[in-house]
Parts: sequence; C-alpha cells; structure tokens
Amino acid sequence: MNFSDKPLTSVPPIIAIDGPAGAGKSSVAIRLAAFLGLPYLDTGAMYRAVGLMAHRQGWRPPLDPATDGPKISRLAEGRLRLVPEAERMRVWVDHVEVTDEIRSPECSAMASAVSALSEVRRALVPEQRRMGLLNGGVMEGRDIGSVVFPDAALKVFLTASPRTRAERRYRELTARGLDVSLEEVLKDQSERDLRDSSRADSPLQVASGAVVVDTSGMELDEVVERLAALFLDVKRPADSASAIHEGEK
Ligand code: DC
Repeated sequence: MNFSDKPLTSVPPIIAIDGPAGAGKSSVAIRLAAFLGLPYLDTGAMYRAVGLMAHRQGWRPPLDPATDGPKISRLAEGRLRLVPEAERMRVWVDHVEVTDEIRSPECSAMASAVSALSEVRRALVPEQRRMGLLNGGVMEGRDIGSVVFPDAALKVFLTASPRTRAERRYRELTARGLDVSLEEVLKDQSERDLRDSSRADSPLQVASGAVVVDTSGMELDEVVERLAALFLDVKRPADSASAIHEGEK
C-alpha cells in the first residue's frame, strides 16, 4: 500500500474565524465556506436567538450574572432550531422563524449581554461542537479558536480599524432601511467591543496559533483567497509529504 495515497484528512475540517464585529467575518466566512464546499456555521446567531428570547421575556441590559444567568440559560432548552444554509444560518424559536428578527439593534445589544453569562455559554458551546463535528465547517464567532475548537485545522482572527468596521456596519444597516447615524454605530460598536473583550468568560482574544488578518483596505476576494491559501497549506499533512520524500531517496 502506498501511504502517500491516503486521504488528506480523516475528519471534516473546521476553520475557526474569530474577531470583533464589523471585521468582515460573515462575508468572508460565507464565501470561504462556499469555495471549500463546507457548511457556514454562525455561532453569533445562537447568542442572538437567546438574546431575543430573553428580550421577549422582559430582560434588558445590563444583566446580573448571578440571578439572570441560570434563568436565561434555561430559556433556550429545546426551543431553538438551527439550519445552516449557504448564505446564512436560519434560526427558529418555538417553530417560528426568527432569522431576520435576530439582526435588530435590540437583539445585537441583548446578544452581547447574554453572551457574557457563563451559563449561557456552557449551554451553547456543546451545540456548536456538535454542529461542527457533523460535517466540519467554517465557523464564525468570538471564541471558536480559543474555546470551541482549539484544534481547528485553521484559526483566523479577522480585524480592521474601528472606523472601517463602523462604516461597514453603517452601510449594512442603512441598506436594510434602518435609520442610524455613523456616530451611533461607532458608539454602539465601542461599547460592544469593550463588553466582548473584557468579559470574564471566553473574552474576545487572539487564540494561540491563530493567524491575524487586518482587512482594512483589503477587498473581500483578497481576504478569501488569502484564507483559502492558508487552509490548503495547513491541510497538506507533514507525514504524507515525508512519505513522498522518502520514496524519492
Ligand atoms: O457575531 P454577532 O455580532 O452576530 O454576535 C452576536 C453577539 O454574540 C456578539 O455580542 C458577540 C457574541 N458572541 C460570542 O460571545 N461568542 C460567539 N462565539 C459568537 C458571538
């Protein structure tokens, strides 16, 4: 048997894409997933769905981890359904689709607040692992490379300057018909950045072994090509390369 003919990988690969809001994670992850034929997995959608459920029950930020954490983490039990599609993750709460509703500014604020609760993270991370282990995927979030899949085939931390990120978000929101100013978006973004990176549990950080890519001034295609090249490079296992070298001696 020629061992250099063995499959390149035996498990479906995970590509972890972390970084702050507005760094371009979603657009990049969606394109990269399509290019590599992997599912696109958006973990932020899960925190948004829990945020929506809590919002409907009357909770508003700030939340109290000691009293709200256990109650909010139980809200999602058995009520959430997620289906990855090529361009987005579709989400249902109690069999009613909320894919668009979870994108509202209220849900963004609530998602950030509930994502700081350890009990909520403990409830969602196993579900994220289950989804990733099923068929692999390009998984987007804040703690994928550091907590959810620290052994991911490729770990990327996407970032961009605060101004660039706010301008992208502003364009996205106004294109959806929302009446916001760039100043509001900047303020909201810096509050979320602070909350996401200063929380005690799984703060936004560059995972060990992650490649940091600053997307300011880069075209989307350029970023996707760069990540695809990084992935195809790490996917070539060292042992099959050495088998080829040995055969050539
Ligand atoms: O990526 P997003 O904006 O849809 O995420 C919504 C919120 O959830 C955001 O405040 C960060 C948080 N989040 C998180 O804490 N961990 C993840 N893996 C994904 C999102």
